[in-house]
Amino acid sequence: MRRSHILGVGHCVPEHVVTNQDLTRLMDTSDEWIQQRTGIRERRYSDGCTGASDMGAVAAKEALTRAGLDASAIQCIVFATLSPDVDMPASAFLLQEKLGMSGIPAFDVRNQCSGFVYSLAVADQFVKTGAYDYVLVVGSEVHSTGLDLSTRGRDVAVIFGDGAAAAVVGPSPDPDRGILSTHLHAEGKYAEKLWVEAPGSRLRPRLTEEMITGPDGRVFPHMEGRYVFRHAVVRLAEVIREALDANGVSAADLDLLIPHQANLRINQMVAGELGLRDEQVVNNIDRYGNTTAASIPLALYEALETGRLQPGMLVCLAAFGAGFTWGSALLRW
Ligand code: ACO
Repeated sequence: MRRSHILGVGHCVPEHVVTNQDLTRLMDTSDEWIQQRTGIRERRYSDGCTGASDMGAVAAKEALTRAGLDASAIQCIVFATLSPDVDMPASAFLLQEKLGMSGIPAFDVRNQCSGFVYSLAVADQFVKTGAYDYVLVVGSEVHSTGLDLSTRGRDVAVIFGDGAAAAVVGPSPDPDRGILSTHLHAEGKYAEKLWVEAPGSRLRPRLTEEMITGPDGRVFPHMEGRYVFRHAVVRLAEVIREALDANGVSAADLDLLIPHQANLRINQMVAGELGLRDEQVVNNIDRYGNTTAASIPLALYEALETGRLQPGMLVCLAAFGAGFTWGSALLRW
């Protein structure tokens, strides 16, 4: 079987920077609290009329340019998002239309913070088996229009930001380089630990004024933060080890870990658990917050742009998020 690789990466973040100080004008919080608990200094918010597919399309065009490919080369689109432009159809179709990729298969992956790793795994299978040559994988989120930006929602609202990034996956030009393995997991019994309950198909009516303005704020994300935090540290370390073991390498062999960006302290604890040094771990949560499906490809993009990620390096992507879901991918870049 041939090996697949990421051939080009692109990104798109809104221009509007929202600092922790800006949030103190909306809710009872402080720059000190947010920085100490999460490592976040600022995040980006869209203008309120930009959908996940709009940013995804910009990121995808850049990824195509970096890969040296025309849009017509793409044979399948996998779009990871928890914040689709509309309830239906999937954002993948809106993106397809914006990119002029009419006729090719396209679908959304709704796996929250693990969305990019899951989507990469899907693309890897398609390319490895020869089903498709080039698959476009996009991670894009517009969180800012769905957050409770009041003191009631402060525990969740301060951590999320908007952003997108995309990767073109295709046959590796070098059989020794590319995606070595992917590892995916989920545990649905924890679904209610981090979720947006409404609007939903099991509710009649699906949406009421009370769901928005009532004390429960059921249309906003709710999270048992400490519970999620503890699981994230354990599962991330576990799934990184799984990827290393599957390839007969150790953490010491790893050149770069690109973890999901949910909380800097989570990533520091995972690094400590695996005995990784700071320079082995890519973190950019300070500038973007948690952009969910976009976090990993955005960090990957920056690692490439800044020259931290070089050909031949062993790199691990690892994610944990709502579901719970978690996963990893090991690549020889
Ligand atoms: N500003 C000031 N105070 C706050 C804020 C805020 N923004 N938010 C909460 N607090 C207060 C709380 O009210 C609480 O006060 P109390 O002690 O008087 O009751 C205190 O700070 C501590 O609150 P905790 O929620 O226990 O704070 P914690 O240290 O756990 O940090 C956080 C919260 C940052 C959300 C953390 O739990 C976390 O990062 N969890 C994991 C997130 C994650 O990994 N998510 C998965 C990916 S996301 C996805 O898949 C979509």
